[in-house]
Amino acid sequence: MNDNHNRNHNRDSRPLFEVRGVSYSYGGRVLALDNVSLNIWPGERVAILGSNGSGKSTLLKLLDGLYFPSQGEVCAFGRPLSEATFEDEGFAFDFRRRVSLIFQDADVQLFSPTVWDEVAFAPLQLGLARDEVTARTQAALSALDITRLRERTPYQLSGGEKRKVAIASALSLGPEVWLMDEPTTSLDPRSQSWLVDFIIQEGEVGHTVVTATQDLSIVPDIADRVLVFSEDHRLVAEGTPSAILADRDLLLRCNLIHEHRHRHPGLEHTHLHAHSGDHAHE
Ligand SMILES: Nc1ncnc2c1ncn2[C@@H]1O[C@H](COP(=O)(O)OP(=O)(O)O)[C@@H](O)[C@H]1O
Ligand SMILES: [Mg+2]
Repeated sequence: MNDNHNRNHNRDSRPLFEVRGVSYSYGGRVLALDNVSLNIWPGERVAILGSNGSGKSTLLKLLDGLYFPSQGEVCAFGRPLSEATFEDEGFAFDFRRRVSLIFQDADVQLFSPTVWDEVAFAPLQLGLARDEVTARTQAALSALDITRLRERTPYQLSGGEKRKVAIASALSLGPEVWLMDEPTTSLDPRSQSWLVDFIIQEGEVGHTVVTATQDLSIVPDIADRVLVFSEDHRLVAEGTPSAILADRDLLLRCNLIHEHRHRHPGLEHTHLHAHSGDHAHE
């Protein structure tokens, strides 16, 4: 399946995102990314793996132009992202229409009085006709199976429901680049599987999907290429899902799987465990 998706990459063109020698620290003190360089190509599906605090969310916010590098440069669509670039309203509007970040914490993303308003917001901003706004809003609510929540207040919803509303509001915008921050966390099994199918479909239509995750079980389905971040905020490996997932030493070193002792009657041995997903013994 991954080979099929690979054909969608367009490596003849310029990368969609170019990250060159980027370091980022919060308040000039807390290092979150250390000298990271990477490219993301149009139509690629990339998984960003790393344990808690490795810098995944920070990277996605840099790609989304919410933060700017302390050192180095992030380019998107051939333009360096900076405060000055976003002062160009044409660029800012175009960028926000094409790129959607689904935050790890949906709370910071939701601001409307009702779920309907939240999901209708982007198509309204695009200046679409009323019928088109209604159609897109209904379609997005229905895709996420949250039509019944349409009159509810987003901030009163459960974590998983909030995440679905956040995804539906991006879906109604119809971006070509998705930045997803641990999107399966707190979703029920049906929604998780919808999300994985959705990422596959987005890849099939040539859209770009960058997913930060610690859920190794979904990686083969959601990515053509995997980037691995270490606990000291460096990009330490890059490869196909099968190559990365087979590299047990790397996954152990980066705290993406852990080894622990089990005591069974008359027997003591060690197992490797993924942090999430299916916890099968090997
Ligand atoms: N708003 C913030 N202020 C200070 N430090 C932060 C902030 N957000 C994240 N960090 C720190 O930056 C590092 C990277 O965080 P983050 O990008 O959220 O990692 P991940 O998403 O991989 O868990 C961590 O050490 C984290 O504690
Ligand atoms: Mg994070």
